[in-house]
Amino acid sequence: MSERPHPIALTVNGVVREAEVPARRLLSDCLRHDLGLTGTHVGCEHGVCGCCTVLLDGAPVRSCLTLAVTADGHEITTVEGLAGPDGALSPVQRAFAECHALQCGFCTPGFLCTVTALLRDNPAPSGDEVVEGISGNLCRCTGYQNIVKAVHRAAELTAQTGEEPVTGERP
Ligand code: FES
Ligand code: FES
Repeated sequence: MSERPHPIALTVNGVVREAEVPARRLLSDCLRHDLGLTGTHVGCEHGVCGCCTVLLDGAPVRSCLTLAVTADGHEITTVEGLAGPDGALSPVQRAFAECHALQCGFCTPGFLCTVTALLRDNPAPSGDEVVEGISGNLCRCTGYQNIVKAVHRAAELTAQTGEEPVTGERP
């Protein structure tokens, strides 16, 4: 059965991107295969691991559970959009590097997007709030301790520098 393509236009990391996608194309596949943004990783493909997390109008979503057509006209921020225009790492990215919060890095794009939104909404989270905030992202390597440290460090860096932790807009 052939599937009729649907034209969509997404603002991805501040740039309008157009694609023609079947109705069932996942946002994760659209980003990776149609738009070439392979920084968004796909692990479980059924909403469990959080690897594929991106920001949709500023809110973290699992792109493997989101149809690309439903994102038509909306703003998406992927891991490629977290750094500044000059390539300078965001406070969250710097903190992950500084605290050794990654090993293989497969889970990292999802964590970075999740934590970016977490700190935007709660710039000084408690220990429990950090654990709760990252509870939807799985990491098979780190044991989470350095990720938790990195979230607190990112909060410090954000407070020190006054940088915005995220580029996307809240709905
Ligand atoms: S790939 Fe989307 S939640 Fe695992
Ligand atoms: S660093 Fe390997 S899965 Fe998290």
